[in-house]
Amino acid sequence: MTHDVSKTKIRTYPDPVLRAEAEQVEDIDEKTQILIDRMIDIMYSAPGIGLAANQVGELKRVIVFDVKPREEGRNPLVLINPEIVDSEGKTSYEEACLSVIDFSAEVTRSAHVQAKGFDRHGKPMDIEAEDLLAICLQHEIDHLNGTLYIDHISSLKRALYKKKLKKLLKMK
Ligand code: NI
Repeated sequence: MTHDVSKTKIRTYPDPVLRAEAEQVEDIDEKTQILIDRMIDIMYSAPGIGLAANQVGELKRVIVFDVKPREEGRNPLVLINPEIVDSEGKTSYEEACLSVIDFSAEVTRSAHVQAKGFDRHGKPMDIEAEDLLAICLQHEIDHLNGTLYIDHISSLKRALYKKKLKKLLKMK
């Protein structure tokens, strides 16, 4: 199956779909498979290291990610109905998001997480993550709950970004 990625826009802040809570996937059907393939295509062509369904306008609890350096080849991972079941420690990282244009900011999150969910064939998955993968999982699962990384920064920094974005949008 081929997908025309160029026609698929990534939703960007302040699009309300990014603020909505995604619904549990009850049945991993053909539509879910198409959504997953579309998300993987979009993630690599962006390029990004993770994508949540909200970002392509679908309120389903699906995330895709691949934090490996590009020279190691593609190994996209899918997590359906993902949940963080345990977390430990603290780490800070300069985050960005395909849905938050022209911005990045340091965010503090848990350093280690244990996540669970299902793969695209419905097989239960258990992921122990640290470093970039732990950050990515927290960032993407946040999306499914309508949370953006800019919600984790100071209100002053967020206000400055909103001001900058207003100017940017006016110029377009
Ligand atoms: Ni994001």
